[in-house]
Amino acid sequence: MGAMKSLLQLSWLGCVVAAASPDNDIHHRLLARSSAPICNGTASTLALSDPPYSNYFYSDCNVAAQAVVTSPLPDSDLTLIGPRLIVAWPAGDSGICAYFAPQSGPNGTLAIEMVNSTVGHPLSPVYSTGSNASAPPSVGLQGVLRFNTSATLTLPILGSIRTIRDFVEGPSLLQPQIQDAIRFMSNEDGSASLQRTWLDNVTSTTLSFAPFANNTVKGKVSVSNRTLNFEAGDYLVSASMDYPQLTALKPAMVLNNAYRELKTTNADQVAALSFLSYSEKLLAGAWRFLTYFGRDSMISALLLEPVLSSGNGSAMEAVIGAVLERVNRTDGSVCHEETIGDYATWLNLQNNISSSAMLCDYKMIDSDYYLPVLMQKYFVNNPVGQKRAASFLSTPAGAIDAHNQNLTWGDLALISAERIMRLARPFAEKPVKENFVHLKKGQIVGEWRDSEYGIGGGRIPYDVNTALVPAALRSIAILARQGLYPKHKQWSHMADRYAQVWEDKSLDFFKVTIPECEAKDLINDDVVFHALALDGNNNLSKVEVMNTDDCFRHFLLNTTNDAQLTPFLNNSATNIRRTFPAGLMTSAGMIVANPAFGGNPVYAQNWTTGAYHGTVIWSWQLAMMAKGLELQMGRCQLSANFSVTDQQKHHSENSASCPTNKTPVAPIPEFCGDDSVWENVKAAYNELWDVIEKNKSQLSGEVWSWTYRDGGFQVTPLGVIPPPGGGSQTESDIRQLWSLAFLAVTRSENYK
Ligand SMILES: *[C@@H]1O[C@H](CO)[C@@H](O)[C@H](O)[C@H]1NC(C)=O
Ligand SMILES: *[C@@H]1O[C@H](CO)[C@@H](O)[C@H](O)[C@H]1NC(C)=O
Ligand SMILES: *[C@@H]1O[C@H](CO)[C@@H](O)[C@H](O)[C@H]1NC(C)=O
Ligand SMILES: *[C@@H]1O[C@H](CO)[C@@H](O)[C@H](O)[C@H]1NC(C)=O
Ligand SMILES: *[C@@H]1O[C@H](CO)[C@@H](O)[C@H](O)[C@H]1NC(C)=O
Ligand SMILES: *[C@@H]1O[C@H](CO)[C@@H](O)[C@H](O)[C@H]1NC(C)=O
Ligand SMILES: *[C@@H]1O[C@H](CO)[C@@H](O)[C@H](O)[C@H]1NC(C)=O
Ligand SMILES: *[C@@H]1O[C@H](CO)[C@@H](O)[C@H](O)[C@H]1NC(C)=O
Ligand SMILES: *[C@@H]1O[C@H](CO)[C@@H](O)[C@H](O)[C@H]1NC(C)=O
Ligand SMILES: *[C@@H]1O[C@H](CO)[C@@H](O)[C@H](O)[C@H]1NC(C)=O
Ligand SMILES: *[C@@H]1O[C@H](CO)[C@@H](O)[C@H](O)[C@H]1NC(C)=O
Ligand SMILES: *[C@@H]1O[C@H](CO)[C@@H](O)[C@H](O)[C@H]1NC(C)=O
Repeated sequence: MGAMKSLLQLSWLGCVVAAASPDNDIHHRLLARSSAPICNGTASTLALSDPPYSNYFYSDCNVAAQAVVTSPLPDSDLTLIGPRLIVAWPAGDSGICAYFAPQSGPNGTLAIEMVNSTVGHPLSPVYSTGSNASAPPSVGLQGVLRFNTSATLTLPILGSIRTIRDFVEGPSLLQPQIQDAIRFMSNEDGSASLQRTWLDNVTSTTLSFAPFANNTVKGKVSVSNRTLNFEAGDYLVSASMDYPQLTALKPAMVLNNAYRELKTTNADQVAALSFLSYSEKLLAGAWRFLTYFGRDSMISALLLEPVLSSGNGSAMEAVIGAVLERVNRTDGSVCHEETIGDYATWLNLQNNISSSAMLCDYKMIDSDYYLPVLMQKYFVNNPVGQKRAASFLSTPAGAIDAHNQNLTWGDLALISAERIMRLARPFAEKPVKENFVHLKKGQIVGEWRDSEYGIGGGRIPYDVNTALVPAALRSIAILARQGLYPKHKQWSHMADRYAQVWEDKSLDFFKVTIPECEAKDLINDDVVFHALALDGNNNLSKVEVMNTDDCFRHFLLNTTNDAQLTPFLNNSATNIRRTFPAGLMTSAGMIVANPAFGGNPVYAQNWTTGAYHGTVIWSWQLAMMAKGLELQMGRCQLSANFSVTDQQKHHSENSASCPTNKTPVAPIPEFCGDDSVWENVKAAYNELWDVIEKNKSQLSGEVWSWTYRDGGFQVTPLGVIPPPGGGSQTESDIRQLWSLAFLAVTRSENYK
């Protein structure tokens, strides 16, 4: 070990190409070194500052990767924030993480920073090939990292993002089998490098540091006892790995023709969307979720559908195809998260299997229900999708998930719909609490609030049971009428019949009424909301946390029971409009959970500003709520175009000529004619949009929190606030797929 490591700088076509080679095959690599294929068009880059984090995205035709540099601020909590470099690749959900500490001096006295240099502004790509021409090239990023004082590398992790998350999100898990495989090399040119061969025995990840002369200071790095010591100064840091890259969807291929101009008007969001979009799948977020997530990609596609490309090789088909490819053929469950790359090999090893085959996590219960809704949106409502349905659904499965060989994507869509019909039936026949859809046995999470404190240990989540199940049933009925399930023609009626029961009978089970006298000083009126879940921890029969999950019904359902719909919309609007703690509104955005009305002290302890699903703001929830309210108000708009008699006429014509194929025009809901409710909903819509516009700079991020200071709610990164119960904090992704929904969700001029 410790042989010379060569770092060749080739400046070519404005790109700096570094041929970095692990010591063992250096000669082959030097001989076989080749230049990166020329990328037509410029690289897509994005630099985003979110102190204490600095994020850099880079993608061209050879590599896509993100770098995150964390450096403590004077007021940072040093138990949560330390100097750290992360480089993350969508390919293989791979990453490098390096923690640093001041060599002498207390924590907080070392600052690190990526600086502009002759290497890049601040980053440029790394590309090198080895002797094996058919093996993937080693690709990554490089740039100049500055240490303002002497530093020590306290912990490197090389391999999978999942391995990094196990450490970062805790509880500080490290696997000796992975950590001990890192080789530390001190090279003759004064550089030092770390290299690890993955558990697949094929792929390797390399991180190197070379002192970089910048006219004033040149650093010095030394290897000692499996760590690196740095003098203050500048270092060319280079991170690379040789796992096969995904097929990127270029910005122009992610958007449909009608919305190409977003590339110029919303360049940053489109660059982020493109970074997360590949023809194999769309990725959920950067850096923590750089891979397939079923729920995230489907919710994103539902919200972004108007602007996304459709047709063969499109973004819409990437999402639907990725979901179908990964459906569990035995029970029809949709895959929540895939495990690929080094972490897949690791998990297989834990089961004594020597294989790098991907794995799927099927613990979520909500993801199943988004699939038919999205399929309806594409294969029924979208003319391009309509034409594509037959050939798309006959695609053979198994290319990625080998379990699904010998089935088509259409077969898997059917198996998944059969699961939904099976699970929906008991409640449709007998609407009692026991017949609701429950979390899977042994799981404490199952829908989007998938953290320890998310739904308070509830077994029966609100969103799934009052919105997702009936919405999926409505879509299954429509898809059945389109002939998608020839085996189950009866679903065209049966699924609608089930849906009606789920729509009408589920809501009341979750209803919480806080009488005015108990709402105390908060409010001078009864407060009505719907519980996050039923059967929670601490013997809570209802988890009485006010929340934003009403948005699912608003966005996904046109319910027809006016006696229920009118007060539901009205209460939902009131809760949005009231300022926390009386309601959900803050000047930093609408919070997703408000525990202030629960009597039990666990509420206030568990749903805090530091909890991932606590009194915090999620961008996509703002988008879905805004769009949901708009859709509901849109149902009234129809009245402007059709008089009631016209509607009824239209309705009967439809039913007479096409009894099964056309959805009759819906009757106008009663709330449209109730001035006080209508005005309340409209005001909620506008106040929500006001706060969305006020927090524009946050919108593409995953989640953010606030602190109350200077008489107001000040936006604060979640990652810097300690979580409830102590332990490691979840930091927000700077860019999250579903948070890009605002590319498609915009304020309507109709409701000013
Ligand atoms: C770039 O364009 C050239 C000429 O059109 C083409 O031959 C080459 O394959 C393209 N390269 C990539 C990476 O798309
Ligand atoms: C300083 O930070 C490092 C890395 O985060 C940590 O391991 C160490 O415990 C901290 N030391 C003190 C004295 O807080
Ligand atoms: C390095 O930066 C940290 C954090 O800003 C600061 O506390 C420290 O004084 C700096 N050290 C030097 C030598 O400039
Ligand atoms: C580094 O270069 C980028 C791109 O040219 C520029 O936007 C940025 O301001 C520069 N940063 C500094 C600190 O000069
Ligand atoms: C070359 O790489 C390919 C693809 O990774 C692999 O299948 C093959 O075994 C490698 N050949 C040698 C000689 O290592
Ligand atoms: C990697 O090599 C080791 C040692 O030869 C072997 O035990 C293991 O099964 C191999 N792993 C895989 C995934 O092939
Ligand atoms: C090197 O590391 C080992 C294991 O962590 C430790 O026992 C030993 O004392 C260290 N040696 C030096 C010189 O730091
Ligand atoms: C060189 O690095 C030192 C600190 O590492 C910094 O203070 C100085 O501004 C840098 N010089 C240039 C030209 O970038
Ligand atoms: C699919 O679901 C079945 C039944 O729940 C389960 O036993 C099986 O392990 C799952 N398949 C995969 C590949 O995870
Ligand atoms: C697919 O069919 C082939 C040929 O009949 C068989 O060998 C293979 O095991 C099947 N794969 C699965 C996952 O059932
Ligand atoms: C609140 O958190 C505590 C501590 O983690 C836990 O024991 C309890 O079950 C939680 N209660 C709810 C309703 O989430
Ligand atoms: C509900 O009605 C609105 C407005 O008419 C319409 O745009 C939307 O597609 C309908 N949603 C569903 C799920 O039917």
